[in-house]
Amino acid sequence: MDQILGFLIGYASGSIPFGLLLAMAAGKGDIRQIGSGNIGATNVLRTGSKWLAAGTLLLDLAKGLVPVILAKALFDQPEAMPEAAYGPVPLAALGAVLGHCFPVWLKFRGGKGVATNAGVSFGLAWQVGLAYALVWIVVLALGRISSVAGMSAVVAAALAAVALGYAAYIPVLAVIAVLIIWLHRANIGRLLHGEEPKVGSKK
Ligand code: G3P
Repeated sequence: MDQILGFLIGYASGSIPFGLLLAMAAGKGDIRQIGSGNIGATNVLRTGSKWLAAGTLLLDLAKGLVPVILAKALFDQPEAMPEAAYGPVPLAALGAVLGHCFPVWLKFRGGKGVATNAGVSFGLAWQVGLAYALVWIVVLALGRISSVAGMSAVVAAALAAVALGYAAYIPVLAVIAVLIIWLHRANIGRLLHGEEPKVGSKK
């Protein structure tokens, strides 16, 4: 029961499409008709507003962080594996990312989960979140390609959980990493053709 509640808290939070809502509220129209069509901060930046993009990034991050922290506070955590790997906290984490990527409110067509998974990673263990943020920022600074930075960060989070011994969080972070990379398949196609836009480009 706690697992179901944890998942639902995560999904309810993750499914709020902040990028779409902020862009609409600011009169920028439907973000799904712009650029890559994604509802995340990178695509919101293509509206030309850095503030909207920053707001989307922070809110998408918060909607991953908050349910994981809530699940830690509300529910007893199984300590022994394998139960710990599918306790309410990992399920809240999974729910948040699935909510962002497949929101019921948008006919299950949502975003790619990079910012939400950053919040999730910080919520699970701040050291994992730090690894995520560092890899994301460094790769973004080096190449200025958001998708490459995001995919690198999600893999880094799973590897950090392995390296730091957060056994209970390895399966969920690995599943999320595979999901997020799969959701970037169009980006990967563009990367292979040298057509992936850099951050800030309006394409
Ligand atoms: O977080 C999404 C990012 O990795 C790619 O966004 O709009 O370039 O597909 P976009």
